[in-house]
Amino acid sequence: MAILKVARMGHPVLRRKCSLIAPSQITGHKVQDLIRDMFETMTEYNGVGLAAPQVHNPVRLAIAGGEADADGNPRYRVLINPEITVLDEDRKLGMYEGCLSVPGLRGWVERPAKIRVKAYNEKGKLEEFTLEGFPAIVTQHECDHLDGVLYVDRITDTTKFAFEAEADRFLEHEDDDDDEDAEL
Ligand code: NI
Repeated sequence: MAILKVARMGHPVLRRKCSLIAPSQITGHKVQDLIRDMFETMTEYNGVGLAAPQVHNPVRLAIAGGEADADGNPRYRVLINPEITVLDEDRKLGMYEGCLSVPGLRGWVERPAKIRVKAYNEKGKLEEFTLEGFPAIVTQHECDHLDGVLYVDRITDTTKFAFEAEADRFLEHEDDDDDEDAEL
């Protein structure tokens, strides 16, 4: 187990289109070790999600949270080679996003509120599920990382791009209520 170094904006590894992982390799040591280290790294830095390129490993693997299990505990999904289908182009959800690779900043981003996700899980099983609301935002943010896209690329109103303290003080009150300071 290891806490990995997180790449920050400007590092080219965050701008690459990441490579697919062969499904047969998912249960192998290399991928399993990476998943474990990514969980440890995400927990250490209070992330709600983390993508492999953020830890200098440009493969199509991400961890996405924001959901709760039946007991109300946080649920994290491992997404390998994920594919997203937007289920409702018109319904958008906006929030101030943050990113462990863009420390100290927050920016207002609007994304589709409901998506269908197809991905391999950590056991190598292909899964399909629908996400709505905050978990849908987290998953889209993480999947963007796999294509070299950062949330800052999706900010359309730069007056809503601010340092965390100023965002909390002057901007946060606007519309998003439930979703806490999310580092994705
Ligand atoms: Ni991020």
